[in-house]
Amino acid sequence: MTVRAVATGIGHYLPARVVENSEFEKTLDTSDEWIRTRSGIERRHFAAEGETTSQMAVHAAKAALAMAELRPDDIDAVIVATSTPDLTFPSVGTMVQAGLGMTRGFAYDVQAVCAGFIYALANANGMILSGQAERVLVIGAETFSRIMDWEDRSTCVLFGDGAGALVLEARTGSGHSDDRGILSVDLNSDGQYRDMLYVDGGVSTSGTAGKLRMQGNPLFRQAVEKLAATAHKALEKANLGAESVDWIVPHQANIRIIQGTAKKMGVGMEKVIVTVQDHGNTSAASIPLALSVGVSEGRITPGQLLVAEAIGGGLAWGAVVLRW
Ligand code: UT7
Repeated sequence: MTVRAVATGIGHYLPARVVENSEFEKTLDTSDEWIRTRSGIERRHFAAEGETTSQMAVHAAKAALAMAELRPDDIDAVIVATSTPDLTFPSVGTMVQAGLGMTRGFAYDVQAVCAGFIYALANANGMILSGQAERVLVIGAETFSRIMDWEDRSTCVLFGDGAGALVLEARTGSGHSDDRGILSVDLNSDGQYRDMLYVDGGVSTSGTAGKLRMQGNPLFRQAVEKLAATAHKALEKANLGAESVDWIVPHQANIRIIQGTAKKMGVGMEKVIVTVQDHGNTSAASIPLALSVGVSEGRITPGQLLVAEAIGGGLAWGAVVLRW
């Protein structure tokens, strides 16, 4: 008998303001056509003035708890993946705890930029397998609109805001790959690629939040290679092959990266959840958002095998194999 971290609830929140590509044409030398063809993005949501990462995370968490039919105090741990916290500290996790009215358990943040949700899932899985927690709320929540340089057309048209939340609960499994829950995790990072994607400010340097800087094209070339490799490694750890995959739930940065990775994995695009057209790149929120959309549309159903994969600043990248 094996303990497994099984998904029992998923939910998401998107801020009300939707910004179509054409809006950027008013202030930048760009076009809807360039953004669509180079990235696959058509629109994104931006948080309202005063709307914070933790507020969005609480909305998503409530939806996930409702699906899992749990109350906030049933949760042992809250793990939030974010690079855009409300404040330098305390953690968004503890703010979510307060926002939900939780009076027990523990909460913290994980920062692995766009790979954050994968890292948070790995953390939650570890907490459950080691007996530290039985029920964990895993959240990806971001307000990347706050760290955009609105004069840099090569970045500001790509990102969006939002939050997604997943409830994982300890369940008994057989130890085989037909168990529901997280079957394997593969994490990687390489700090020598720091300059490919970073924010040019921070507490111990400028004392400001800074703006996002990205070398898009070199990163693009790293992404497909590394994402396909980590997905393959995660499947191998679960003793599964690409033919077993029902859905790839990828980080939603660029449709061409999503397509290139699926092709390299030997999985058809009909088995990929794609939301990049509607959300843009929401960093750590993008996988739980895509997962939530896939479940709410009835495409992802219990028993199906999912591979989630992501890469971002660090570089940090990884994949999780999970049976829904
Ligand atoms: O979430 C973390 C992971 N993030 C990623 O993985 C992002 C990876 N990178 C990408 O998605 C793509 O590299 C981009 C979408 C950022 C760019 O696509 P690209 O095909 O790599 O284009 P490029 O950077 O090579 O730029 C091509 C041209 C350049 O002009 P020149 O030098 O050829 O004259 C850019 O200046 O497109 C120009 N350009 C734009 N033109 C119109 C850059 N941004 C824009 C824009 N509108 N918004």
